[in-house]
Amino acid sequence: MFLQRLPISAENITPLPKPHTLSSSPRSQTHRYPSLPSVTNLRSRTLALASQKAAVEVPGESSDGAVGSKLSREPEPLPPELRPDLIPKHVAVIMDGNGRWAKMRGLMPSAGHEAGVRSLRRIIELCCSWGIKVLTVFAFSYDNWVRPKVEVDFLMSLFERTITTEIDAFKSEGIRISVIGDTTKLPDSLQRMIKYAEENTKESSVFQLIVAVSYSGKYDVVQACKAIAEKVKDGTMEPEDINESLIEQELETNCTEFPNPDLMIRTSGELRVSNFLLWQLAYAELFFDPSLWPDFGKEQFVEALASFQQRQRRFGGRTS
Ligand code: IPE
Ligand code: IPE
Ligand code: MG
Repeated sequence: MFLQRLPISAENITPLPKPHTLSSSPRSQTHRYPSLPSVTNLRSRTLALASQKAAVEVPGESSDGAVGSKLSREPEPLPPELRPDLIPKHVAVIMDGNGRWAKMRGLMPSAGHEAGVRSLRRIIELCCSWGIKVLTVFAFSYDNWVRPKVEVDFLMSLFERTITTEIDAFKSEGIRISVIGDTTKLPDSLQRMIKYAEENTKESSVFQLIVAVSYSGKYDVVQACKAIAEKVKDGTMEPEDINESLIEQELETNCTEFPNPDLMIRTSGELRVSNFLLWQLAYAELFFDPSLWPDFGKEQFVEALASFQQRQRRFGGRTS
């Protein structure tokens, strides 16, 4: 059964002795925070699309019926408009627009985040069906810590609840879960759950879900530099040994065989990368969708993949 809900609780899990850290160096506490995101810069197409949907949908349901109660689906055939030989190995997604989705329905941001989890489940199902090997999702940025405490607390409990609910299904489906970001800032129970989920799915090889939580692309580069500097300092490496592949080995995406996304999708109509995988996106194809994340479903994903399949990737060279 696919992504079936199974009742596991964090209390049933043996506490781990040490807090979970993903990098060898302690994280900087000197991050400069931006002001809270504004909702005044919505693209007109985004607004139009979202208000049409708000008018016709029950809150919590996305356009293709990808709701939490329909988790058990058979693998889906690849739509005829997509070529199996051009399916990207690694797709990255900035899942943006949950707050606006909720606001348009007169709901709190938490309702948008709940609805966003349903979209994520649906996209994971499609990735598994269509042979995408890695999906990296931006779930919470380091810069999001400045949001109201009530929203941050809700998100932390939502992450824990979601991992708890899905972990066994992930394992039985061959889905590996990895988390990147400064997890030391997360609540202890969530850190334990992440560690447990990573440990228990590390042998899974069908598909890898990388969740970026408390993640900063800039800090990822900083922590890689620090790790390399330590090696130079202790004499295990010379400065002239430093090259791109060595830096990639120190970035947090060293948890996967395919660290550099082929395709990066951002929803909600915003045209920026917002401190996501800055190094890793060097040659990613970019796709910006006006849908708010809770409304992003199969139709939009197919459109993104079809657009990707029409791109000419040159990596700086010539094709003709
Ligand atoms: C993305 O949705 C989820 C997180 C950043 C946690 P937002 O909450 O940013 O939604 P908008 O951009 O305000 O609509
Ligand atoms: C990026 O969205 C982070 C996530 C989707 C988790 P934001 O909503 O934080 O980005 P900005 O503030 O619009 O750039
Ligand atoms: Mg946002």
